[in-house]
Amino acid sequence: MSLSTQGTGCPFGFGAESSMATGTAPADVSSPDRAHHGYEPFQMKDPFPAYARLRAEEPVMYDERIDYYVVTRYDDIKAVFEDWETFSSENAQAPVRKRGPQATQIMNEGGFTAYSGLSARIPPEHTRIRGIVQKAFTPRRYKALEPFIRANVAQRLDAMLARDTGHGEIVRDLAYEVPTITILTLIGEDLARIDDYKRWSDSRAAMTWGDLGDEEQIPHAHNLVDYWQACLALVEKAHREGGDNLVADLVKAQQDGAEISDHEIASVAYSLLFAGHETTTTLISNALRLLAADPATWAKLVEDPKRIPGAIDEVLRYSGSIVAWRRKALKDAEIGGVKIPAGAGILLVMGSANRDESKFEEPEVFDIARPNAREHLSFGFGIHYCLGNMLAKLQTKIALEEATSKLPHLRVDDPESIEFRENLSFRVPIAVPVSWTE
Ligand code: HEM
Repeated sequence: MSLSTQGTGCPFGFGAESSMATGTAPADVSSPDRAHHGYEPFQMKDPFPAYARLRAEEPVMYDERIDYYVVTRYDDIKAVFEDWETFSSENAQAPVRKRGPQATQIMNEGGFTAYSGLSARIPPEHTRIRGIVQKAFTPRRYKALEPFIRANVAQRLDAMLARDTGHGEIVRDLAYEVPTITILTLIGEDLARIDDYKRWSDSRAAMTWGDLGDEEQIPHAHNLVDYWQACLALVEKAHREGGDNLVADLVKAQQDGAEISDHEIASVAYSLLFAGHETTTTLISNALRLLAADPATWAKLVEDPKRIPGAIDEVLRYSGSIVAWRRKALKDAEIGGVKIPAGAGILLVMGSANRDESKFEEPEVFDIARPNAREHLSFGFGIHYCLGNMLAKLQTKIALEEATSKLPHLRVDDPESIEFRENLSFRVPIAVPVSWTE
């Protein structure tokens, strides 16, 4: 099997999701004897019925196809996230499929020495670097960008409306570029490089969480070399010229005595230039995909935009951008009564935790007024809790405020036919076609 994160042209629907949105159909928890309870690690078409079966039948399941223990219940997942001394995140950025010889050679010769900025680092190194990055990545820095983000969103929606066809496509017309422009601006990178960063990020998602064969890895290996060299160049530029951006702030902190090396700063840039847009593109796409699929829900937001933040939490619960994240057992341990040997890989399926019936009432119902939606685990939990969660939510809030104001009659065309990329962790809708009429 050789699956990339790019669209394959298969008819991935979100059938269960869309019917659940009306609150009518329960998850299918039958078929107890299907292999792996129907769970397919890279299949993002509609993983939720398999998640429900796993929670009911084998909430901690060893999956030999990926060599991971797959954990699906909310309480177990939260407990693993919390216990970083037993379950380390050091494997969070490791390639799921072994790197082939040609890709390894290309990356070695290209000087690729990138390492995780934060997510796969462990204390005390993680604590040291996170403390320094957090001081630079302040709400003040990204809130200052709010008018710029709003203008960017408004301009794109106006351009979509100006085409006067009554039809648009949310990923292409809005969600793809907005968060990328935001993060490039924050980091201090040239906006003309947007296509480079999108291409490099696709390669990173494919090389780390995809299911690529040796030959397929080759173009992605070249892209990762270019990506890493661009991050090193950003640090050099900040040393030379300074600047009003995050990389320059980190270089300044280093010059003022903070304990962070140039390689670590480049690694943080390498992380943010991926994590900072890929997942937010998905969140904006998912928000419009789910909220405008149901006319009554969209009408509620048009009428009362104060409901938007709650609706975003429910989108994150119901359809997170990252549905599974990894940990490694550092010693013999136990999860939900199942013994886990030291050294084992663990796949925490947050997409399942977020629909755990012991935590969320009627979890398969999409309800923008759900009182505890914020307790979703889509941003992780504990010491690695997502650093950019507020920026992601801010951008999605702006996108929904502008979209409800400019497109009060927005509808998603045929939500059932929406396709998703294949990947272990990232659940990415490829295109969200929409229409609007008076
Ligand atoms: C919808 C959008 C996003 C989602 C769903 C998301 C999800 C996640 C998840 C699941 C983790 C791992 C948490 C853990 O291991 O406990 C994480 C970590 C992280 N995220 Fe996000 N993220 C999003 C947006 C962003 C943005 C916009 C940025 C930066 C601008 C960002 C930067 C980071 C960083 C730096 C970490 C590592 C933190 C650490 O290890 O200390 N993320 N995110």
